[in-house]
Amino acid sequence: LTVQVNKPGAPIQKTMYGLFFEDINFAADGGLYPELVKNKSFELDEHLLGWRGIRGAAALTTYTVSSQQPISATNNHFLRMTAATASPDAGFINEGFRGMGVKQGGEYTFSVYLRQGPGSVSGLNVILEEGRAGNGPEAGPSGKVLAQTTITGLTSAWKKYSVVLKSSGTAERARLKLTMEGAGTLDIDVVSLFPKDTYKNRENGLRTDLVQLLKDMNPGFLRFPGGCIVEGRNLTERYQWKETIGDVASRVPLVNRWNMEFKHRSTPDYYQSFGLGFFEYFQLSEDIGAEPVPILNVGMACQFNSAELAPISGVAAGGPNASSSHNHEDDDPTLETFIQDALDLIEFANGPASSPWGAKRVAMGHAAPFNLKYIGIGNEQWGPQYLERYEPFMKAVKAKYPKMNIVSSAGPSPDGELFDKATQRLRELNAEVIDEHYYAKPEWFRQNVGRYDSYPTTGSKIFAGEYAAQSVAIGSPDNKNSWDCAISEAAFMTGLERNADKVVMASYAPLFAHVDAWQWTPDMIWFDNLKAYGTPNYYVQKMYSTNPGTTMLPVQRGGNAKNGEDNLFSSATADDKTGEIIVKLVNYSTAARPVTINLQGVKKLGKTGKATILASNDLNAVNSLEQPMNVAPKDESFKVKSSNVTYTLAPNSFTVLRIPGKR
Ligand code: AHR
Repeated sequence: LTVQVNKPGAPIQKTMYGLFFEDINFAADGGLYPELVKNKSFELDEHLLGWRGIRGAAALTTYTVSSQQPISATNNHFLRMTAATASPDAGFINEGFRGMGVKQGGEYTFSVYLRQGPGSVSGLNVILEEGRAGNGPEAGPSGKVLAQTTITGLTSAWKKYSVVLKSSGTAERARLKLTMEGAGTLDIDVVSLFPKDTYKNRENGLRTDLVQLLKDMNPGFLRFPGGCIVEGRNLTERYQWKETIGDVASRVPLVNRWNMEFKHRSTPDYYQSFGLGFFEYFQLSEDIGAEPVPILNVGMACQFNSAELAPISGVAAGGPNASSSHNHEDDDPTLETFIQDALDLIEFANGPASSPWGAKRVAMGHAAPFNLKYIGIGNEQWGPQYLERYEPFMKAVKAKYPKMNIVSSAGPSPDGELFDKATQRLRELNAEVIDEHYYAKPEWFRQNVGRYDSYPTTGSKIFAGEYAAQSVAIGSPDNKNSWDCAISEAAFMTGLERNADKVVMASYAPLFAHVDAWQWTPDMIWFDNLKAYGTPNYYVQKMYSTNPGTTMLPVQRGGNAKNGEDNLFSSATADDKTGEIIVKLVNYSTAARPVTINLQGVKKLGKTGKATILASNDLNAVNSLEQPMNVAPKDESFKVKSSNVTYTLAPNSFTVLRIPGKR
């Protein structure tokens, strides 16, 4: 191999390797967003989802949909408990998200709104207890008590109460029990049990271990909130960012677009609380050092579902500023509503405190702008209906914010052409970044390593916005995060890096999955209620994103062999900040492979290099909660004797070499 250190190519963009976040597989509620109470506000159509009455329940009225002074206009359902006689073990249990994960000595803030009704209820008993197997409605009546307290001092007006519970034990599937002291009526709303241990100890913060796994990747960007979830199965159920900011208790939940994919659940068990909303996404991006890349609905529901379209002309009821709630059946937005949402989002992220939307950001505690530079128009959409909406949308954004980089959608790609009509039109419209998605067999990734070799160096750039090798088939529940998939992605990514003048962003998808609540495989990070692990695919991504370099370097193979020939894949960059040459090598073969790397024109060569090696002899190898590091990178040093660096690649391995040397 010859690395042409003296013929440097394009700069590697800071955004080159990033993250795609979608609320699928319990990624937000039940995952990154650590609220332990499911359906805390009783606002879903199935008002008692996640709750069930326990002994003495006959004496309880389950809930009331009240017009009698609810907490707020958007939070107008609450649980009314009524007991004719005092019944110490009568109350309600919340099952959490496949249980509640609590740790011994861990502190959890319990908060609730209470209002005393007729009778003599003197308090609310709050009991955190171990659950029984299953922890759903089938779970047993009670388990070991982990923490307990009683809230007193009730009043006849709504009042918020807050108390910290300290768990005496560790449980993956704990649950919360609420019972009344005395007989009478008690109104209950916005029940929350939130760990004090959150990333940066934030109130309404995020699950520490999961954020840390993301931060460890040094991601260039964070794309959110999806995925098909942006579009919704129909427009009424689309993602509306304005509904996800402000007071957490007033955010109206929505059935998750992926709920239907739970084959074993017919009730809407998966919903979005929006506790992790757009403010929190921006804050997370900042925390992990990633550029925020929000993707907005272009005025189309998911083309794989209803394909519902927003009319292009006409003004939505209430004017273009109308922010129609997803709870309003008469919601009939035109394209103008979607465009205005995008303009308002930019103002929310970047505007001064004196601007209406900037003021809302400031009120939420972030006076400085989030410095938003990218905005996506539509997720995975294609064809004339997309272009008809994209063009006026893009022009309106550019008219007001000429420097905003727009990410345009290209639909799912592997079976399609790189240059289909829509892509051509997007290029004619000078789209900055075109977002391609490919889910395909591992061999597709190895065979298509040259996908971007002939893509023009001028004009629109590429965002490989969603990709993952599928071990069985796209959408198969049997897909595994196997080493074969991961090493094939590593091989493909050498092609992205070699074309870093054309491909400026790339992200694996999906990001997260709960081991007991998923709809899609494979996924990069798996977790239960207490633990998490990175898959081999995670380590491939991490090895790229923590070793990006600053400048692309051309790599030549002896005998003019192409990248990937004989199952050897390679790419190289210079890291001008550290004074190193970074070479990435994939040996997709069962034999060890000695390579000589000629660093052509290198200056100031050092003596010791660092190799990071991800390898397994078993292409079916996977990681798991029990064996999280079965396939994990190992570091070693190696001698650099001359500008002809020799190194032996392990069988079936992905290796990153960092060689001290300047260009
Ligand atoms: O990543 C899962 C889904 O795949 C995304 O929601 C969608 O954009 C794609 O079809």
